Amino acid sequence: MADKIQELSEEIKQFTAANQEELEAYRIKFISRKSVLGDLFSEMKNVAPENRKAYGQAVNEVKQLAEEKFRALIEELENGSESSASKAPIDLSLPPVVNLGTVHPLTIIHNRIVEIFQKIGFNVADGPEIEDDFHNFTALNFPENHPAREMQDTFFIESNPDIALRTHTSSIQIRVMENQKPPFRTLAPGRVFRNEAISARAHCFFHQVEGFFVDKNVGLVDLKQTLYYFAKELFGQDTQVRFRPSYFPFTEPSAEMDISCNICKGKGCNVCKYTGWVEILGSGMIDPNVLENCGIDSEEYTGFAFGMGIERIAMLKFQVNDLRLYSENDVRFLNQFKNIS
Ligand code: DAH
Repeated sequence: MADKIQELSEEIKQFTAANQEELEAYRIKFISRKSVLGDLFSEMKNVAPENRKAYGQAVNEVKQLAEEKFRALIEELENGSESSASKAPIDLSLPPVVNLGTVHPLTIIHNRIVEIFQKIGFNVADGPEIEDDFHNFTALNFPENHPAREMQDTFFIESNPDIALRTHTSSIQIRVMENQKPPFRTLAPGRVFRNEAISARAHCFFHQVEGFFVDKNVGLVDLKQTLYYFAKELFGQDTQVRFRPSYFPFTEPSAEMDISCNICKGKGCNVCKYTGWVEILGSGMIDPNVLENCGIDSEEYTGFAFGMGIERIAMLKFQVNDLRLYSENDVRFLNQFKNIS
């Protein structure tokens, strides 16, 4: 019996398991209920009573040995693949795996718009998101009781009704015109805020790009040609535009510009509501009052201005129909813009 026990403990010590099958073979032989060790325990009754204690002890020791070895074998197998991988020689010629982020879709559109206008001599200006009533409304010729000044649209600062989050980037137009001398050819992108319930079609903050051109003898024809150039650059050379008369306090005359639907090419689809046209911006000749409010002689200088929503253009370009996706930072959404820049 002692020989048998000795033999088994040797076998246990020598055992190696190169894979799961061999591990399982070990388990069946030394650990399971029907293992050879189980046989040793059932031999107990045949051992002379005076030797039973020693025999029992010896069998328990092999059992412990078998269990320890089993744990060791499992561990070796689990780490095995890792350690063999770490032993593999490093291939220094492989390019590094770098998981780059993506350019945000709104940034893609923003950069594209800036690039298009920079080509025709526009520079880029910035302005504060927290504005006063003068720059956001008064200087832009908003009448005292204009509905846009009311609480439902504008986030006012509670302690000071003169201070608000800017509701449009037109405020930057005022800041540039009051501080610099004409001519201006300026683009002013930025985030704007409106007190609206968040839904697929509206948000309490979004992005706009304002543009304005002020010089001697600037006319409606310059406005039309500039925006026509822009639409074709952004949406493709076959894009058609149309201007519809509109109203803004800071421009006279005012117009909204539509482009032929870039999805159905003007044939009619649910994006253009089967009209073949989609609106992309507001524009107009800068009202002389606005120029004068900024200390610019409106007899000498004229200009045009335009404003567009970056989200709106991104939605048309990327055919995304829920505005909220742009500010949720869901990587499943953002990753879809990986190869666009
Ligand atoms: N500020 C306008 C808005 O937020 C957009 C706009 C329209 C800007 C016409 C302009 C313009 O400069 O000429 O809806």
